[in-house]
Amino acid sequence: MNEDIKKKAAKLRQALHRHNYLYYVLDEPEISDAEYDRLMQELIALETAHPELVEPDSPTQRVGALPLEKFETVAHTIPMLSLENAFGEEEVLAFDQRVKRFLNTDSPLLYTAEPKMDGVAVELVYENGRLVEASTRGDGYTGELITLNIRTIKTVPLALLNPVSVTVPSRLEVRGEVFIPVEAFKRLNKERLDKDEPPFANPRNAAAGSLRQLDSRITATRPLDIFCYGVGMVTDLEFSSHWEILQSLKALGFRVNPDIKPRATIEDILVYYRDLLDRRHEFPYEMDGVVIKVDDLALQRRLGEKSRSPRWALAYKFPATQETTRVLKIDVQVGRTGALTPVAHLEPVSVGGVTVSRATLHNEDEIKKKDIRIGDTVLVQRAGDVIPEVVKVITTKRTGVEQPFKMPSTCPVCGAKVVRLEQEAVSRCLNANCPAQVKESIKHFASKGAFDIDGMGDKSAGQLVDKGLLKSYADLFVLDRATVAGLERSGEKSAQNLMEAMARSKQISLARFVYALGIRHVGEHIAHVLARTFKTLAALMSATAEELMAVDEIGPQVSQSVRAFFENPENRRNIERMLKAGVKIETEGAAAQEPLAGETFVLTGALESMTRAEVKARIEALGGKVSSSVSRKTSYVVAGKDPGSKLDKAKELGVRILDEKEFIEMVSEK
Ligand code: IVH
Repeated sequence: MNEDIKKKAAKLRQALHRHNYLYYVLDEPEISDAEYDRLMQELIALETAHPELVEPDSPTQRVGALPLEKFETVAHTIPMLSLENAFGEEEVLAFDQRVKRFLNTDSPLLYTAEPKMDGVAVELVYENGRLVEASTRGDGYTGELITLNIRTIKTVPLALLNPVSVTVPSRLEVRGEVFIPVEAFKRLNKERLDKDEPPFANPRNAAAGSLRQLDSRITATRPLDIFCYGVGMVTDLEFSSHWEILQSLKALGFRVNPDIKPRATIEDILVYYRDLLDRRHEFPYEMDGVVIKVDDLALQRRLGEKSRSPRWALAYKFPATQETTRVLKIDVQVGRTGALTPVAHLEPVSVGGVTVSRATLHNEDEIKKKDIRIGDTVLVQRAGDVIPEVVKVITTKRTGVEQPFKMPSTCPVCGAKVVRLEQEAVSRCLNANCPAQVKESIKHFASKGAFDIDGMGDKSAGQLVDKGLLKSYADLFVLDRATVAGLERSGEKSAQNLMEAMARSKQISLARFVYALGIRHVGEHIAHVLARTFKTLAALMSATAEELMAVDEIGPQVSQSVRAFFENPENRRNIERMLKAGVKIETEGAAAQEPLAGETFVLTGALESMTRAEVKARIEALGGKVSSSVSRKTSYVVAGKDPGSKLDKAKELGVRILDEKEFIEMVSEK
């Protein structure tokens, strides 16, 4: 083959590796996304024309490969040990004393301390700078080969950078923790709920489940990330301290936690621990403690290890987020789609500083599997913002009076018959007018991604339904002010605010409208796909199953559900009533004039292809507003190069962030 083409492919690969690193690991891109895409497209074109050029570490190869039958196992060259745990300052000080005694020294020692990540430990093996193998920790001696899955993680280098400061070793084993950042976890679970899939209990389970997929194409869709914190066997390199290892890993292109405390005395490490414990919820990832490591590697070697853990390291854990308590009773809640969810009422207990008095039990099978009975003593856990859940029953505490739970055969709210379909884990109340379902569907209708009616939450919706003033969301727009003001704890002012919020919300995009309807299996994303494809409500309502199925991303399940919804006469009547009451749906055609109406943008950093004035003019021309500060009301933050603190604020508030490419797509598509 032509040497020039080979060289060109190698050059492109190298450039893409570098830009990938700058973008994902350092978060400091040097080129625009468009430029990156161009390079990627160029490499794909070359590799398609010359398939023999494709190498496993090419940046084009991250998408996931064909499913495996099962995972192979692999022995770690050096065992992956675990850590001794400590739960209080005395234990940490005792550890420091023990280390000093062992080393026969009185002088203060330096420790490097890092957040203990709550994820999955992995080992990555590089030969001559290329990722050749990745495995789980397993039992510490042998793990499972998960190379294909690990390759899909964008912050894992497929090829090492070639820094001047560090020789690229012929073999390098790197250890780290794979995890899912908190915000990404919330998004993942929201998407799963929208798709009627069971949510993950916590980010750790989600990370573990994602890495355990035999089909790496599934793993590729999960927002996995990694922090590297150590090495196994390494050739050609000599390190003198743990901190130096971390710096070298960084130089080679690995992601290293930026919140590490380097080389400090044990007293300073205690201060660091208290600070992290205080602020743990401000970090974008979950941690469950601090790992304290003797920094000097010569001292580490002298200290050696006990049977399962090194003498030179200690995990100083945060107070448990699991506690035991008692199940007082089990209630059943009815959700928007009629799904019955059993909920345990618990004797209140403080779990990691938050009082927990309820836990979701998910469904009937889950209760059976864990054999949870009323009166049982159970272990409950809370992780991040996730609803607390029962981990297991402490069966040794049983006295014999505990009562098994039985799913009711009629709806606890409306008394209608409850049905459990064969292929489903959940039981459902089939009465669409069930007040519980109506309340939930109104809350959904008024939620942020739908009509976004401020003030129509749990309380107002609940009271309006209970008083018989709302029978469906279609009644919202005929509510009058006096009725609203008559609600409990609702003064003139809040009634006025709610009326104004409702009036404002009447002008709505087709996508939001479709999402608001609460059609099963139609989450925010699918609603957008439907709106983009059918452009008007009328077209969508009359689309046949075949027409729906022909749309990319729409399968038989969504198609059936959409058809069933629009064929239901009551749903059609509700839509008509809303339109009569003044709801104005922007069709894609008419929306062409003002597709961004009602959306507020905040700009930060510079865009490559447009000046700030042009960006502002474009947004305003499409009906949007530009504001200078980020708040919960901001719809989008457009982040260009060198963004400022507005970006942090947006992340903190969970405001959608658009990069240049996404923004250009948004303003040119319409
Ligand atoms: S060092 C011999 N550093 O904790 C030292 N471990 O209980 C080995 N972990 O399996 C580990 N964050 O999954 C180290 N910054 C960190 C860590 C960390 C999380 C996990 C790791 C390991 C477990 C040991």
